[in-house]
Amino acid sequence: MSNAQHWIARKGQPLQGSLVIPGDKSVSHRAVMFAALADGTSTIDGFLEGEDTRATARIFSQMGARMETPSPSRRVVHGVGIDGLQAPDGELDCGNAGTGMRLIAGVLAGQAFDSVLVGDESLSRRPMRRVTGPLAQMGARIDTQDDGTPPLHVHGGQALKGIDFASPVASAQVKSAVLLAGLYAEGETSVVEPHPTRDYTERMLAAFGVEITYSPGKARLRGGQRLRATDIVVPADFSSAAFFLVAASIIPGSELRLQQVGLNPRRTGLLHALRLMGADITEENPAEQGGEPVADLVVRYAPLKGAQIPEALVPDMIDEFPALFVAAAAAEGQTVVTGAAELRVKESDRLAAMATGLRTLGVQVDETEDGATIHGGAVLGSGTIESHGDHRIAMAFAIAGQLTEGEVRINDVANVATSFPGFDSLAGGAGFGLTAA
Ligand code: S3P
Repeated sequence: MSNAQHWIARKGQPLQGSLVIPGDKSVSHRAVMFAALADGTSTIDGFLEGEDTRATARIFSQMGARMETPSPSRRVVHGVGIDGLQAPDGELDCGNAGTGMRLIAGVLAGQAFDSVLVGDESLSRRPMRRVTGPLAQMGARIDTQDDGTPPLHVHGGQALKGIDFASPVASAQVKSAVLLAGLYAEGETSVVEPHPTRDYTERMLAAFGVEITYSPGKARLRGGQRLRATDIVVPADFSSAAFFLVAASIIPGSELRLQQVGLNPRRTGLLHALRLMGADITEENPAEQGGEPVADLVVRYAPLKGAQIPEALVPDMIDEFPALFVAAAAAEGQTVVTGAAELRVKESDRLAAMATGLRTLGVQVDETEDGATIHGGAVLGSGTIESHGDHRIAMAFAIAGQLTEGEVRINDVANVATSFPGFDSLAGGAGFGLTAA
């Protein structure tokens, strides 16, 4: 994405109010994909109107699935059936979305036609062999660049066979790509993960009528099954709520309510980590939305202390480390992160981006291959931060800017719209000092 936009963050007011957080990105991607592949018409409510999820919707429209948007965050999807996708008229652009590209690669592996998946500058640097490897074992033919990065050239017309795949990496994207290709494969496909990851693909395939057995870290399905249209309600995205959980925890005098946030246990590692650090977060009005647990999260300012983050929590908070690093900078004492090397292959190298940015503001950070030690409690200074076009780095430093005496300039923030359109106005309304330019 371009450098067209930046933010100036500076101390605002204590955060107050009751906020509605946009829909979950992971759930929205899958909802629109599976609805497009189903027999019949599905309605999706709470769809994330972000660039990533819109790119996925556009891709399935290009392959013949008709979609309507009767109102924002609502999609009516006329499914074409598991065997009904048509050859697209051109390249399929996933934008910034690793989830989009990796899951769609699993679907395209089983089609009769050739296709090409492309992405933006950041996605074009991300590793794809983690999916093309197992898909090749199933009989797919997908070419990457020599270094395993996109574009992906998918050769259609390959007969796929089911595999038992022991994934070397804890990745819901890898698991999902293999399971989706498994729908097109002869026989059964199973995936075993080194640590359990988010299970939305499994849960939602079951909601679309697919017979699938799964438990944390394991999933198995039989090829040749059809999907049956259903209506999906997308819960609010915990990963977007995370920025407000951290901000209200570290800005004195704050009290925020985040309404009906998705609390799938594979997503809420940050809640445990923040509570370990002394945060005051309570869950109220628990309910179920679209088969997912949700609750209001009420967060009040509390002085935080550093902690050793248990490695077992890492997959359950994999998207939350930029926010956690800011909480760690505000906490008294050291916070130690280990076992998080995956952060180096996200939308940016998040360990490097957070360490460099926090150092710019005067925080001591010792970076390691798979984590960092953040020495918290220093008074933050002003400075200019590079977000590297990474939405979560930009939002993390918008929070850090609330603690500094001077101003923090955050460059290259346009990609915040990939996951959290309207973040700056929602944050501003809650009390953040944040202006876009
Ligand atoms: C996602 C899985 C995670 C996460 C990403 C969304 C998903 O990636 O970081 O934001 O929707 O499956 P990995 O599976 O690569 O860890």
